Amino acid sequence: MRIPLIAGNWKMNKTVDESIALVTGIVKPLEDIKGVEILICPPFTSLHTLADLLKNSSIKLGAQNMHYEDKGAFTGEVSPLMIKDLCQYVIIGHSERRQYFNDDEYANKKIKAAINFGIVPILCIGEKLEENMSGKTIEVLERQLEQAFNDIHNIGDIVIAYEPIWAIGSGKTATGEQANNTIGVIRQKISSLYENKTASNVRILYGGSVTADNITEFVQQPEIDGALVGGASLKPEIFRHIASQTSRIASQSRNGC
Ligand code: 13P
Repeated sequence: MRIPLIAGNWKMNKTVDESIALVTGIVKPLEDIKGVEILICPPFTSLHTLADLLKNSSIKLGAQNMHYEDKGAFTGEVSPLMIKDLCQYVIIGHSERRQYFNDDEYANKKIKAAINFGIVPILCIGEKLEENMSGKTIEVLERQLEQAFNDIHNIGDIVIAYEPIWAIGSGKTATGEQANNTIGVIRQKISSLYENKTASNVRILYGGSVTADNITEFVQQPEIDGALVGGASLKPEIFRHIASQTSRIASQSRNGC
C-alpha cells in the first residue's frame, strides 16, 4: 500500500518571517490529518528555521533543488551535504529549473547525489503544451525518465511527480482520468527499467493547478499517490483541505469503499 504524499512547493515565495507565520498557522491542523504524508518545500533561506520549528512534527521538509557536488567553487549553489540534516526530500528537475537552469542535463547527477546523501528525490517530469498537442507526451516522459535514471541501479524510495508544463500555474489541469492513464504509463516504464516491485512501490504524484476543488478527482485515481502543489500550498486553509481530502479518499480506499 503506497502512502499518499501531499507536497507543497512554495517556489520563490516567503521570507523567513513569512515562512514561520505560514507554518505556525498550519502545523497543528496538518498534524491532525492521518494516513497522508505531508511535505513542505520552502526556499533554502527558510529551511533551517523551519527544520527547528518542525523538529518534533510529522510534517516533513524538502528543498526545491540542490547542486550535485558536496562542496566546491560553485558560487550561489547549495549542496546535498548542506541540506541533508535539514530536510528529508529534495525536488529535482522541476520544469521551471529545466527551462531556466539546464536541469534536463543535471537531473541524473542530482538524483545520484541525493540518494548518496540519504535525501529522497522527487523527480519532476512533464510535457510542454506543443508536445502534448502533437501526441508526444509519452515519448517525452520516457526520455526524461531514461535520462534521469541513467546508470542508477536502485532508485530506492524515490518519488516521481508528473507535472504537465501547460498545467503549471495556468488554472488548466489534466483530467483525473488523463493523469491516471499517463501515470500508469510512467509506472510501466519504471517496471521496464527496474522490477515490477519497484514500479508498484514508487509513489507518483500529479502536479499542475491542484486546488481544494480538484484534488479529489486526482487522488481517487488508483495510479495517483498524491500531489505536488504550487500556488495553493501558500494558502494554509486550501492546503489543509487538499491534505484532508486526500486522507479521506485514502481511508475510503483502505476500507474498500
Ligand atoms: P501550481 O500548483 O501553482 O500550478 O504549481 C505546480 C507546481 O509547479 C508544483 O511543483
